[in-house]
Amino acid sequence: MPLADDLAAFQGDAATAFAGAADVAAVETARIALLGRQGRIVALQEAFRAAPPEEKRNLGPLFNAAKQAAETAWKDAQARLADQGDGGPLDITQPAPAHRPGSIHPLSRLGREVERVFTSMGFSVVDGPHAEHDDYNFTRLNIPQDHPARDAQDTFWLTDGRCLRTHTSSVQSRFYELAGQGRLTLPLRSVVVGRVFRYEAVDATHDNTFTQVEGFVVDRGITVSHLVGTLTTLLKGLIGRDDVEVRLRPAYYPFVEPGFDVDIRSPSAPPEVRYHDWMELLGCGMIHPQVLRNGGIDPAEWNGFAFGLGLERLAMVRHGISDIRVFHGGDLRSLRQFAY
Ligand code: DAH
Repeated sequence: MPLADDLAAFQGDAATAFAGAADVAAVETARIALLGRQGRIVALQEAFRAAPPEEKRNLGPLFNAAKQAAETAWKDAQARLADQGDGGPLDITQPAPAHRPGSIHPLSRLGREVERVFTSMGFSVVDGPHAEHDDYNFTRLNIPQDHPARDAQDTFWLTDGRCLRTHTSSVQSRFYELAGQGRLTLPLRSVVVGRVFRYEAVDATHDNTFTQVEGFVVDRGITVSHLVGTLTTLLKGLIGRDDVEVRLRPAYYPFVEPGFDVDIRSPSAPPEVRYHDWMELLGCGMIHPQVLRNGGIDPAEWNGFAFGLGLERLAMVRHGISDIRVFHGGDLRSLRQFAY
């Protein structure tokens, strides 16, 4: 079958020609001769078409394999020369590209700043497990069994009955329990910067994995003023402006009473910055007496405040980032822009 021999010869010649091509022009010359519109491949194709039907059954796969092998050899040659810039000889006297130092991820950086502000106010940095019992994540926080927040729509459930914590408020449950058991002594001033998980469709403003900051204070005679003072100190520290104002609006969270949503603004910020005018930032409130009781703390003696905010949202505002997927996308071209 002479055509089979021709195909084998074609394949071998293509391999040799492309592998041996020393520059881009040589690759192109070989491509035109072999795979071009008037190249050898066209004559082979015509010969294949003219072959008797009973031979075509065997020749078809041979033809395809030879053509594909030639095309692969061509692409390999292109890739090989692309690695060498313009295909010229390698200049070993060129200085090597400088090592690029790594940098801290913008979220880690902001998280550390948050921790620094809180430790300066006497808080301890704490955390709890990501895989959490629903008792700590929900029940002890006054979120009953039939509450919509427990819906499988929002929560990743593990096969052993635990879930991935949906908020860092779960850490409150654990620390109130430790205090109730006498394994920690009150008062308590704690802050968590931790990862949380929600079963959510990912888009520019939602991710299934994000970071929350949770603060909680349990002491005697705590008031909303303490809460406002703490938040103001935090936000002044993070935003780096002295005119930061906070505004509380009533809101419902099962584990606080009263509960608030907090808006911030800083009129001295440039008008294009989101918090130049009021911007909603976080939820907070006075810890619900039942939540303290659930941990074994007597609410007649102790009370406190708690708050929670999303770190990504804060980082997006700070850096003018419009897509939350930047943070966990792992694209260094994005992340390097925030390195300093
Ligand atoms: N856990 C709430 C959430 O994930 C945020 C939150 C609101 C935390 C009010 C608090 C609080 O501590 O008091 O949406």
